[in-house]
Amino acid sequence: MEQRLTVGRVAELTGVSVRTLHHYDEIGLVQASARTAAGYRAYSASDVERLREVLVYRRLGVGLREIADLVDDPGTDAVAHLHRLHGLLLEQRDRSAAMVAAIETELKERAMGIRTTPEQQLKVFGAQLYEAIGSAYPATRRTEPRIAAKIWDALGDAETVLNVGAGAGSYEPPDRDVTAVEPSAVMRALRPADAARCVDAGAESLPFEDQSFDAAMALSTVHHWQDPIAGLREMRRVARRVVVFTHDASDPGWRHRFWLTRDYLPEVAGLVAGRPSVDQLARAIDARMEPVLIPWDCADGFFEAYWRRPEAYLDDRVRRAVSVWTRVGPAAEQRAVESLRDDLTSGRWAERNSELVALDAAELGLRLLVA
Ligand SMILES: C[S@@+](CC[C@H](N)C(=O)[O-])C[C@H]1O[C@@H](n2cnc3c(N)ncnc32)[C@H](O)[C@@H]1O
Repeated sequence: MEQRLTVGRVAELTGVSVRTLHHYDEIGLVQASARTAAGYRAYSASDVERLREVLVYRRLGVGLREIADLVDDPGTDAVAHLHRLHGLLLEQRDRSAAMVAAIETELKERAMGIRTTPEQQLKVFGAQLYEAIGSAYPATRRTEPRIAAKIWDALGDAETVLNVGAGAGSYEPPDRDVTAVEPSAVMRALRPADAARCVDAGAESLPFEDQSFDAAMALSTVHHWQDPIAGLREMRRVARRVVVFTHDASDPGWRHRFWLTRDYLPEVAGLVAGRPSVDQLARAIDARMEPVLIPWDCADGFFEAYWRRPEAYLDDRVRRAVSVWTRVGPAAEQRAVESLRDDLTSGRWAERNSELVALDAAELGLRLLVA
């Protein structure tokens, strides 16, 4: 027989009052489909599934009337609902991380006697991840020529190139006609004056006609998109060739392969949980996949770039230019950095990673997808 939960038990598990649950029942939002022998409301597995959706939307601040429309949408099945909730929660988490980063900056500025303007104080509420961390980007992020050569080679003979999630414009080929797409105003502002024209848009909805570019490229950006598969399909729609530089975020592909995530920052598992795998991304656009090795002296300071230069991760400027550090939160960051500092001082890091010294390039799960 199907297990049912009484209204009291549901209240206990969710932290929502019985009164609220009764209200949801009365307005038809989440009705308990049965009664116990004593006449109490009893929730079936599908009642609970619906309640869970409603509660997540509530936590996200959605009004009851809008929630009713969302959960009653006949075109959306349970898995599609979960994907939507997952995307919304990730967005909220990144927004919180951005607000934490903005408040920390303000605290530092106040400690130095700098007062933030009223406009800056209000901006924190609209903070998007790259609006908060973007200004730290140029300190260490630039074109790595050996990786650029691979990307430009993958673009083939494309003359018109769309750069999606373009940021400040690293890796934009100088000898082709480039159009950039970038949703963050802070990142757009970092583009050099002579950089390619840049449109304010997100990958998931590209404001271009079908097949209007020879190639579209997306570099170190897909993991930030709310819906990576939709974004890749958009690239496929607007361009004849698609080139994506990303990472294999699976445990064996990335987390356990790189000493930083394996030994110091296991929290990255939470950041990538539920994101499409690199194989799913490749399948979505029917792409072939090539590993991209990271040179030991990589010029672009992305997360894995300093695999043979561990002291670099002790530098705040290096960490602030990589979103992972903001997204894991200040407690995990501080713990990881202190633990790494201890291991570098004691020689434990060198002992554990002795094989790296002899390598000129490392395979840490970075991938080029070409379709
Ligand atoms: C790590 S930066 C990479 C920038 C650039 N491609 C590079 O390689 O230097 C990631 C960029 O993705 C952008 N981004 C975030 N969400 C996006 C979306 N939905 N569509 C397009 N770009 C997005 C961010 O604003 C940020 O500029």
